[in-house]
Amino acid sequence: MFGVAGRRAVEERLPALREQVGADLAIVNGENAADGAGITPKLADRLLAAGADVVTLGNHTYRREGIGPYLARSERVIRPANQGRETPGSGLAVVEARNGVRVAVLDLLGALFLDTAVSPWEVVDGLVEEARAAAPVVVVDFHAEATSEKVALATWLDGRVTAVIGTHTHVQTNDARVLRGGTAAVTDAGMTGPHDSVIGVKAELAIRRMRTRQPVRFEPAEGGVRIEGVVVACSDDGRATGIELLRLEL
Ligand SMILES: [Fe+2]
Repeated sequence: MFGVAGRRAVEERLPALREQVGADLAIVNGENAADGAGITPKLADRLLAAGADVVTLGNHTYRREGIGPYLARSERVIRPANQGRETPGSGLAVVEARNGVRVAVLDLLGALFLDTAVSPWEVVDGLVEEARAAAPVVVVDFHAEATSEKVALATWLDGRVTAVIGTHTHVQTNDARVLRGGTAAVTDAGMTGPHDSVIGVKAELAIRRMRTRQPVRFEPAEGGVRIEGVVVACSDDGRATGIELLRLEL
């Protein structure tokens, strides 16, 4: 979700949406909650209060003051697991879904075109083992830029996790599928936020920065708000049985 418009959409629509699609668990990527870059403790609490069971983050995790200590004690707001040992917070959350099934959520940052402390490939197998020991259902938020890396990680994890959901590009991809081994995957879940924009930012500002190469302060856009995401169905033992794109114009 992105900016004020995205947060409002989550707060106003998530509870009813959960009922509508019969979701036992909701995961929200919240790294763009605070004016489009980062998240504050207050905003993280608001997303949890709106019905998110787990909030995942990404490359903008530490853009706002106060989020480090908050993450250090939070069990439901997680940052990428491969951001280095010195960074506060955890990359893995284990929660109970509404139907009583335990779910592990793992947050990982891609290595391609991002400033990533530790390659996800170095740590993913150990982390998945840890997650599987804690819960039968394992969901990976792979926060990454490149389609190739996201397809590769989903394929590598096929049969070992329930779902690999790509985030970060803010552009929903049309490749939601259940892989042969029973892992649901999508390259990018898309953006809940203002789509009359350049991935959430006021278009004229993003374009000016690209054209002139001058510093331009980004501001979140407001129009064309959509809720985007995916709905994953799985059995209690963690095998995915379906995945559907969610796209709702508000
Ligand atoms: Fe990101």
